[in-house]
Amino acid sequence: MNAVGYICSFEENSYARETELEIQRVHIIEYCSKNNIKLEKIFEEPKDARHDFKPELLSLLKYISKKQTDEVIVFKDEKLADNRIVKEWIKNELKKANSKLTPIINDSDNVIDILVEEHQNSKASKANYIKNKIEVIPSLPEVVNKVMELVQDPKSSANQMAQIISYDPGLASRVLKMVNSAYYGFEKQISSIQHALAILGYSTIRGLLLSASIYRIFTPKNSDEKVFDYNKFWRHSLITAISGQVISKKLFNLKDEEIFSMGLLHDLGKIILEQYDHDNYMKAYNATQNQFDPKEVLENEEKFCAITHPEVAYVLAEHWNLPSSISQVLLKHHYPLIDSPPDTHSLIINLANSFSNIITEEKDFDVHLFDVETLLYLKLDDEDLLELLEEIHLEIDKIGNLDSFFK
Ligand SMILES: [Fe+2]
Ligand SMILES: [Fe+2]
Repeated sequence: MNAVGYICSFEENSYARETELEIQRVHIIEYCSKNNIKLEKIFEEPKDARHDFKPELLSLLKYISKKQTDEVIVFKDEKLADNRIVKEWIKNELKKANSKLTPIINDSDNVIDILVEEHQNSKASKANYIKNKIEVIPSLPEVVNKVMELVQDPKSSANQMAQIISYDPGLASRVLKMVNSAYYGFEKQISSIQHALAILGYSTIRGLLLSASIYRIFTPKNSDEKVFDYNKFWRHSLITAISGQVISKKLFNLKDEEIFSMGLLHDLGKIILEQYDHDNYMKAYNATQNQFDPKEVLENEEKFCAITHPEVAYVLAEHWNLPSSISQVLLKHHYPLIDSPPDTHSLIINLANSFSNIITEEKDFDVHLFDVETLLYLKLDDEDLLELLEEIHLEIDKIGNLDSFFK
């Protein structure tokens, strides 16, 4: 017995389309191997096929008229045609060529349920797989956990906090280096954590400590691998942090201590995927033509890694017990309007991320590089954006060498 297969999908979303095609393909192959049928080939409709225009179906009919084929296997009858008359015509053509039509699933079966279930199973098992990997990601240094507890405790004192931070001299000196970087622009050097706490506040120091620890955990010792550019990644994060601060001051009149660390950490999920699901993440990364189109980025992450960078960062943030204000930004920075009212920090970081893309990639200003919904919600026009961009550039110029910020 020999056969050919036929698959087709009209899903517009490319991920949904690929998934639907893959499921049909897998079912046809499994069916043939179970029933000892020699599968000659599978005809797959191109993505611009329509209900009334199926070029591959015509090729299939031509193929079976020339080469004896016992069966034409489809996932479901309706994949051939949803119109009864057309369906009858095709069946007739098959009969003429001495071939029979074999649907794997009855039209009465609820295919949507089957598809959704298969998709969810694969997603759930992948999410679990990633979650298990997260178990092996080092935990945050004890110092950071203690500091996070102290920030929540109204009775804690700057002395206690400074003492705890000094237990990890490496981290303490890194935080002091950040505080003394040109970014904060203090005239005199700040030489103690206690002084830094008094000037910058608990939340800022907690954020810097957290960022410094995460930088230490996730920066590979020898990143010769050119596939993922860590310097560029941290530069993008730092510019997002700076932009976030400018935006919160200008648009929200907020002097927010947390926004800087939110900007630094917003794309944490990307380095988790890069380090803990490397091969799949590289496939997703390379398949993405426009790295500035979050829809495409997230679709490919979902397709290849079964979990997106916001989701995986959120899972880790929960695992690490990070403050919920931070885990919310990790999860929602690409879709801040998912909540109503939206999370202000996520809105700010969404906008900051677009500015950072323009600056990091030295692109010309283009309103299309921003999230339309965020702009509409914040009622921002080109002029407002250009003003913010100018201000952000001034802030960045203060730092000079961005790469030295973390080192
Ligand atoms: Fe992101
Ligand atoms: Fe980003």
